[in-house]
Amino acid sequence: MIAVVVGLGPMGRGIAQVLAEAGHSVRVVDATAELGQSGLERIRADGGTGDITAAADVESALADAEVLIEAIVENMDAKRELLARVAAAGGPDLLVASNTSSLSVNEMGRAFGAPERLIGLHFFNPPTRMRLVEVIVGAATGDATVKRSMSLVESLGKTAVVCQDSPNFIVNRVCRPLYYEAQLLVAQGVEPAVVDAAARGGLGHPMGPLQLLDFTGLHTHLASSETALREFGDPRYRPIPQVRGLVRAGMTGKAAGRGFYDYAIESPRDAN
Ligand code: NAI
Repeated sequence: MIAVVVGLGPMGRGIAQVLAEAGHSVRVVDATAELGQSGLERIRADGGTGDITAAADVESALADAEVLIEAIVENMDAKRELLARVAAAGGPDLLVASNTSSLSVNEMGRAFGAPERLIGLHFFNPPTRMRLVEVIVGAATGDATVKRSMSLVESLGKTAVVCQDSPNFIVNRVCRPLYYEAQLLVAQGVEPAVVDAAARGGLGHPMGPLQLLDFTGLHTHLASSETALREFGDPRYRPIPQVRGLVRAGMTGKAAGRGFYDYAIESPRDAN
């Protein structure tokens, strides 16, 4: 199958790698041709094998493509703009999946204009290691699209869980209180390493919640928190001001070298 992956952050790169290693032909695209090329080089450097090529733009990537998975920045306006381009350039059977972690699949379906062919396929980080994919079914997603998506997930050796379009879906919603309380502890002066060590030792989680948020990217986490707050209107979803401050300062987590941890001087596991 020919698949297009748009957005080559950690998620798009990992999804492209998983698709290629399952035998699919993958075309990767980022915001510019240069970013597409450097994303591909990064996938190769991370050990990605198989048929992966970089395309200069989404229009050229779409020729004969059967599936497009978007993993661009977690921002509805950006996703809407991309989907309008995909609608104009894609074939009539193109299946379009969003890897969004919190935004509405229904809203994206409308922006795409053919909501029966749009679905959420929410991979987890890192996609090469995490087995679950949440399959987010919108109100107008067609049965054929659900079926094709389930086959795609199966072809990748992943486990699918189907859920309806709802803010934060299942896993991120279940984790929200954990993230919130962990951040509140930090705001109250507890060291991130102490919170994480406690969660690893006491909950058996492989990563503490703050290390996980640094790994996710605090900008993406903040966007999910804002979606949950806006949609549910419940103050328990409000972002902690310290997180907003870190994002504003560009300290968005591990990839930026600084988030809850300063990676120049400590690694969360050493801090244990
Ligand atoms: P990121 O924000 O680190 O990277 C986004 C990438 O998309 C960048 O390479 C950027 O240049 C590119 N991009 C932005 N606008 C674009 C456009 N219009 N056309 C083409 N490329 C564009 O994002 P990350 O962390 O990889 O996440 C991507 C998506 O996956 C988001 O929707 C996020 O919510 C979701 N997600 C993130 C997870 C995580 O742990 N980071 C986990 C599961 C889902």
